[in-house]
Order: sequence, then C-alpha cells, then structure tokens
Amino acid sequence: MKWYHLLTYGCQMNELDSEKMAGMLEENGWEKAENLEKADLIILNTCCVRAKAEDKVKGKLGQLKKLKIEKPDLLIGIGGCMMQQENVGQKFLQQFPFVDFIFGPHTMDRLNEIVEKSCTGRVLEIEADRFDVPRLPIKRESSFRAWVSIIKGCENFCSYCIVPYVRGREVSRPLEEIIDEVKEHVENGGKEVVLLGQNVNAYGRDSGRVDFARLLERTDRVPGLERLRFMTSHPRDFPLELVQALVEMPRVCEHLHLPIQAGSNRILQKMNRGYTREDYLKLVEFIREKIPGASITTDIIVGFPGETDSDFADTMDVVEKARFASAFTFLYSPREGTPAARYSEQVPHSIKRKRLDYLMSRQNQISLEYNQALIGKMEEVLVEGPSKKDSEFYMGRTRTNRPVIFSGPAEKGALKPVKITSCNAHTLYGDLQEDSAHE
Ligand code: 5AD
Ligand code: SF4
Repeated sequence: MKWYHLLTYGCQMNELDSEKMAGMLEENGWEKAENLEKADLIILNTCCVRAKAEDKVKGKLGQLKKLKIEKPDLLIGIGGCMMQQENVGQKFLQQFPFVDFIFGPHTMDRLNEIVEKSCTGRVLEIEADRFDVPRLPIKRESSFRAWVSIIKGCENFCSYCIVPYVRGREVSRPLEEIIDEVKEHVENGGKEVVLLGQNVNAYGRDSGRVDFARLLERTDRVPGLERLRFMTSHPRDFPLELVQALVEMPRVCEHLHLPIQAGSNRILQKMNRGYTREDYLKLVEFIREKIPGASITTDIIVGFPGETDSDFADTMDVVEKARFASAFTFLYSPREGTPAARYSEQVPHSIKRKRLDYLMSRQNQISLEYNQALIGKMEEVLVEGPSKKDSEFYMGRTRTNRPVIFSGPAEKGALKPVKITSCNAHTLYGDLQEDSAHE
C-alpha cells in the first residue's frame, strides 16, 4: 500500500484542486493517509493571496524537513498558486533541498507522471497559462456537497490581487460538461452543489455562448438537486435582472457572497473594482426586497495603500447599512507584482491592525443581531455529521449557510427541520423537530 497526505491552503478553488489531486492519485493506486507520519507522499497545495498563507507553508516545510530525515524515502511535493509566481518554484527548489517536486495549477493534471519522475530526480514542472480545462477525476471530501468549477482564472486585475497572475485567463467550462457533473453528483446521493469560480458572473464571457444566468437556470432544473450555491460573485457583474431571475429558481439558496472590499469610492477606484458604494448598496437593497431573509456575506480589506481615517469611516458606514450576516476581513497584504504593492502610501501595520479590530468587533455585533433574529424560527438544515466539538451534537447548515449545532440523531446528508433556540455571533443552536412538523 502507498499512502498520500494532502495539505491544502487557501480558497475553495484550492480545496477542489486537492480533491482532484486525490482523485488522480487514487486512480493510480495511492490511498489517503489520515496523518503525516503514515504518509509516503506529502503534497502541499499552496495559496499566495496574502503573506500569511505563504508563511504557513514555510512553517510547515520546517516540520516536513524533520519527517524526511526520519523517513528518507518520503516524497514531498509542492503545488498550487504560490508556485506559479514568477521564479518561486525555482527558488523553492534551491531553498528546500528536501523537496522532491514542484508543480503549479497549470500542470496539476500531470501529477501522477510528476510523482513518478520524482522517484529518480527532482522535478520542477511549471507552465504558463493554458486555455483548456482538463476534466479530472475527483475524490470529494463530502458525499452530499460538491464543488463544481465553472470558470477558471480571473481577468479583473483588482490592483491588490495576485490571482490573475497565477490563475491566468478566464476559461469557461462547456455547459453540458457542468450539467453532467451536477447530475452525476445527484445520482450518487448528492444534495448540494456550489458552482465555483474566481468570478462566476463572468461565466461564458470568453466563449460567448451561454451566460451565467442561463447556466444557473439549467442547473436549478437538475432533478433531485436540493440546494444550489455559487461563489464568488463580483458586485460589478451582478445586474439587478440576475437577482430577479434568482427569485424564480427554487434551488438557489438565499445566500449571496458579494465581496465589497472597501466602502470608500476613492479606494474602490484605486482598487480597480468598477463599482461605487452607491451601486453596491443599491444591489443589497434590491436583494433584500426581492429575496426576503437573504443572507449577504462579504470580504473587506483594511489598510489598502492611501486609506485614510475618512476612507475607513466610509467602509464602516457601508458595514452599518448593508448589515452583512458575516464578513471575512483582511489586513491588506502587499503582493509582489501587483500595482498596489508599488503604491507609495502604504498604511502602517499598527493603524491597519486598529482598524481591523474595530471592524471585526462591530461586524461581530451585527452578526450576533442577525443570528438573534432567527431564535424561535424553524430552519431547514442540511446535516453535515456529528459536531467536531461535542459528538453528542450534530452540525448542519441552513439554506442561508449559517452553521447550526443541534441535538440529534440525524443522518449525514439529510435535510431536517431544526428549531433555533440560541446563538452566538457565528453559530446557531437548536433542536431537531419531528419531520412531520416540517411538512
Ligand atoms: N491583501 C489582503 N486581502 C486580499 N484579498 C485578495 N488580495 C488581497 C491582498 N493583497 C482578499 C480579498 C478577496 C479575498 C479572497 O482575499 O478580500 O476577496
Ligand atoms: Fe482577485 Fe479581483 Fe479577480 Fe477577485 S475579482 S480574484 S479580488 S482580481
């Protein structure tokens, strides 16, 4: 038996890529090892969107170096976005002599070949962008939820972001291939599908055939599918007509992730986002009007170069007005090669930190109030399994993607009615109700 272990950093796209790597390895006779010590092959699937993600990878490599001394036959490989940055693969090969192979998102489909080659010598296999999206086997982590990639790459070039440089041009997958993958998932007992892309709303723009709204309509009609989600959407590319169209799609969940990034028009322009705070708030208002109970979540960057107290106050103002169910908040992290990294007015770390702490504490209060409004309500929960913290309880998610901890028992993948009894800012707690009460 040959054992592999994958370590994944970063976004859902990387999670999905790791599921594909696992799929390829298992087709080639490898089996998943539950821990690092058991593994004969360890692969790090890296992220480079912020410096913190890179630091984590470097920290892990320190630990792997020791493992390799104890077990010289161990193969260690690094893939993912960080390796796709200019000359980074080459640098890593020199800096970490115990690493056997390096590859990138555009050579991932050759993983088995690369592993094989690395048994006889070190391998560096990085390629420039490519314009086909090979269909790969997928070993899904979840039996009921599937990530389904619909478009690769990003051409938005937000001035802070490294993604367009490492993930390349936008290439949409053919509609029928996506629908086949969704059908296959449902036939295997799947309940939920999350359509994935750096900017899903750009779907079809490259091929000019079918657009995102049409893809959603088709997916929504796949028999047996219970829940349909998508991420990430660019607010600039989210027309009000699309919101209207979502109302007619019963499987589409009442949750939209719409990264605003900043609330100051001056900063939004410097970020190259292509919308104003007014455009964004209008979209939020329209969603709230058309989709009652919708949960809107966002990403916010604090401390973009040149951000003043007044710009930050504008961000806080949007946070107060939009009332996000939750927000991912980040300190701006300069990324080499992006325009913003070269801007002269970098904000000192202490100011960034202070602003982030303030934003987080205010958002936590809003998230808490959002959750409190659900107390006493009945929610449909898709059961994910026993709770990680306390196996006497179960964990699942509402259609609005809020995590719920509830008294069981309940079968993984089942849809159950749960009455919400209490909450904190991030989690709802509740009691399982009899199914008949739900019908
Ligand atoms: N610094 C901080 N946050 C960033 N993001 C992207 N690039 C950076 C950066 N350089 C954030 C954005 C994006 C999320 C995935 O990561 O908010 O939506
Ligand atoms: Fe990065 Fe902007 Fe593309 Fe999102 S839309 S991946 S933030 S460049």
